[in-house]
Amino acid sequence: MLSKKLSFFLLLAPFVASAPAGSLEQRQGIDTSTHCGQWDTILAGQYTLFLDQWGKDNANSGQSCANFVSLSGTNVAWKNSWTWSGGNGVKSYTNVNLNANLNRQLSNVNRIPASWSWSQSTQGSIVSNVAYDLFTSSRSGGSNENEIMVWLANFNAGPISFNWGADGKPIPVASNLSIAGHSWNLYIGSNGANQVYSFLPTSGTVGNFNGDLNLFLRYLTQNQGLSTSQFLTTVQGGTEATSGTATITSSTFSVSIA
Ligand SMILES: *[C@@H]1O[C@H](CO)[C@@H](O)[C@H](O)[C@H]1NC(C)=O
Repeated sequence: MLSKKLSFFLLLAPFVASAPAGSLEQRQGIDTSTHCGQWDTILAGQYTLFLDQWGKDNANSGQSCANFVSLSGTNVAWKNSWTWSGGNGVKSYTNVNLNANLNRQLSNVNRIPASWSWSQSTQGSIVSNVAYDLFTSSRSGGSNENEIMVWLANFNAGPISFNWGADGKPIPVASNLSIAGHSWNLYIGSNGANQVYSFLPTSGTVGNFNGDLNLFLRYLTQNQGLSTSQFLTTVQGGTEATSGTATITSSTFSVSIA
């Protein structure tokens, strides 16, 4: 799934560089139609919306559909409706991917200002999250080595973790971390290919995030052994959907690397 995402990015990169600069032109020019194809991509400004239904074949039925609503400067509004039944794992990570200023070493990243306001409507019970997903590599544009997730919501799902309690719950390696205006528990595990660091809200959901994602990376380089020589290869935000039916509306979504 990852190599597919990256190859899309590499193909699209030259097109991004030549996109019109005027925000009015971009607003008029973006594709606001709804896409449902398993690997569909939609470009708007410095972002690509990836349908990324990588676990679709494990579902008995369902799909994820998404569209951009508007683009103004670096802010996009977008919508994702998904429904999945059957199978155990994640079916889709429909996400908005940042295409600009990637592949800096962590030591050369000053800030990753991010804003995300979203709301969700559901039918019945769901298993999903709402999360930023970042990847790092020891080479520029290289294959993923570390995955850093910042969950804004956990709906009956759970993080990857090395450590589990007798109660069947994952055990955080650090609790009540105060980062970017909210309190988080950090879990560390492996997805088989990458070390996975997951920050989950200590309680509740974060429906309005407005903060610097680099503070999470700084915490990891200063406290958890993540190397500052790693390159930041991917920055995305979206929903990992496993089962149920939901529509998530993001009225504000903006992220950039400075
Ligand atoms: C985290 O904060 C909660 C609520 O204040 C508290 O009950 C809990 O003991 C704290 N956990 C740790 C590991 O400090």
